[in-house]
Amino acid sequence: MSINWFPGHMAKARRQIEESLKKVDVVIEILDARIPYASKNPMLDHVIGDKPRVVVLNKKDMANGKETDRWIARLKAEGVYPVALNGKEPNVLKKIENTVVEATREIFERMERKGINPRAIRAMIVGIPNVGKSTIINNIAKRKVAKTGNTPGVTKAQQWIKAGTKMELLDTPGVLWPKFEDASIGQKLSLTGAIKDNVVNLDDIAIYALKFMQTHHLEGLNKFYNINIDANTEIVEIFDAIGRSRGFKMSGNEIDYERVTERVIYDTRDAKIGKLTFDFAQEEE
Ligand code: G4P
Repeated sequence: MSINWFPGHMAKARRQIEESLKKVDVVIEILDARIPYASKNPMLDHVIGDKPRVVVLNKKDMANGKETDRWIARLKAEGVYPVALNGKEPNVLKKIENTVVEATREIFERMERKGINPRAIRAMIVGIPNVGKSTIINNIAKRKVAKTGNTPGVTKAQQWIKAGTKMELLDTPGVLWPKFEDASIGQKLSLTGAIKDNVVNLDDIAIYALKFMQTHHLEGLNKFYNINIDANTEIVEIFDAIGRSRGFKMSGNEIDYERVTERVIYDTRDAKIGKLTFDFAQEEE
């Protein structure tokens, strides 16, 4: 469900988003709460400029709650309007509406002072693939809007959806490319399902996930797989322990490392091992 991004796709996506931006008062940028840094499109800041921005930390049900709070504080300090959501829950519209009203208050107050008639706040949703853009639009629209899939940019036939009493939303999201800048970002994007597995080495993703949990979620890791590793256990021994505990063996009683790798990736991606946030709000980037 991901796109292979080529320079032509990126240029088109940028152009189309610039066009859509002219129609809206506020941009709603969707990030994955587990990776608020890695799931940011690298170009969006330039394109949005001074336009008010709401940043949704979506999939908060799968992220570490304390870390999400730190990200909210950091984003506020950066001058944007953050809100953490589970895009599938019924309160999404209210939460987004409240944040959008706050983000655009100054603009609308200025319009009112100039005697311009009040109108609905116009907004559009943007973000990289799989962060939950369609889920949120469908939730707000209370119906299934046309799935644009993961077409770069936005499709042409955009329509306004009435969203609550104060907001109108473009029914097609702006689809932007993910960061490609280094391997660890690729691993985080893959681990959360934002990019295709086959563009990143699966072993590297599983190793990254296990090392992260060995450092930040040791007890949860031990409990979930019913193993007993410590902070100094070598990575291959962690694979062995999981393989033994889960009975992932090949003929000759050898550990089936491929199965361990896949299991670890899916269990982490689905937040079964724990609610993990891989980007720290207070980390130097
Ligand atoms: P996109 O438009 O940005 O590409 O993303 P989309 O809405 O298609 O969402 C990608 C996946 O993330 C979907 O799962 C969706 O259900 C899931 N999702 C979206 N928001 C949330 C959230 O807040 N919490 C959780 N836990 N999941 C969320 P899928 O497996 O691709 O499809 P399905 O399981 O819904 O059929």
